[in-house]
Amino acid sequence: MALLKDKVALVTGGGSGIGRATALIFAREGAKLVVADLNRKGAEETVAMVAKAGTEAITVECDVLKPGAAEELVRRAVNHFGRLDCAFNNAGVAGELARTAESTEENWDFVVGVDLKSVWLCMKHEIAQMLKQKSGAIVNTASIAGLGANPLGIAYSAAKHGVLGLTRTAAVEYAKIPIRVNAVCPGVTQTPMVEAGIARRPSMRAVFNKLHPMGRLGRAEEIGEAVAWLCSDAASFVTGVALPVDGGFTAI
Ligand SMILES: NC(=O)c1ccc[n+]([C@@H]2O[C@H](COP(=O)([O-])OP(=O)(O)OC[C@H]3O[C@@H](n4cnc5c(N)ncnc54)[C@H](O)[C@@H]3O)[C@@H](O)[C@H]2O)c1
Repeated sequence: MALLKDKVALVTGGGSGIGRATALIFAREGAKLVVADLNRKGAEETVAMVAKAGTEAITVECDVLKPGAAEELVRRAVNHFGRLDCAFNNAGVAGELARTAESTEENWDFVVGVDLKSVWLCMKHEIAQMLKQKSGAIVNTASIAGLGANPLGIAYSAAKHGVLGLTRTAAVEYAKIPIRVNAVCPGVTQTPMVEAGIARRPSMRAVFNKLHPMGRLGRAEEIGEAVAWLCSDAASFVTGVALPVDGGFTAI
């Protein structure tokens, strides 16, 4: 039986990387999709990919940083599909590479805005809708950088630690409904975000490989499989967790 049969699922950052891979898995598991991204072309490509497999999906061009964007996103989803069962709050940016003393306030505001504040705003409006339905499942994308130090990325690390705070707090607040709220903490995963960094410093690939006991980077699909499970009724007693999907990175 498909894990997400007839559920309506929203994915932010669905135009690339982990968001796109997860959207494809959601579709394989029977969900109808709202694919949201700042990059309209990327989101449209994802929608075209799932439409080929017979899934109903819409694109929403949206900058999650903009005031009102999260509310409008949920409104568009509900106007089109009548409900919202699952949400994957995943849009994110890496920000600058700099040690704490050299890092900038502009980078802090940008990274914390996209990677943390927007997750809160998306949850706020998703939960308002899920409360009307008396059910729902949310997964937020944190990171291994939310579970430990992230040298050269203090704003990113703070934002991802913050995502775990948002996740646990909302999970407890709405556990009795139940609206389940969980987070995935990917290890370094092969996506355009990481490949751009490796292209600038090719020696980093070997460094990243070595950091993971499995000796390789993650694949976006490997994160998406965990997200689909967390969103599904198969995970009906799972809420408030920060699930590493990291090839053993955090086990060391
Ligand atoms: N790739 C990794 O190694 C890794 C590891 C841990 C966590 N993550 C997290 O996974 C998530 C997805 O990253 P990815 O690696 O797939 O990167 P990616 O760059 O391939 O995809 C990110 C997507 O988010 C979209 N986006 C960025 N800012 C946005 C905004 N303001 N509004 C709407 N959409 C926006 C981008 O357009 C892009 O399509 C991010 O939250 C990232 O921090 C990635």
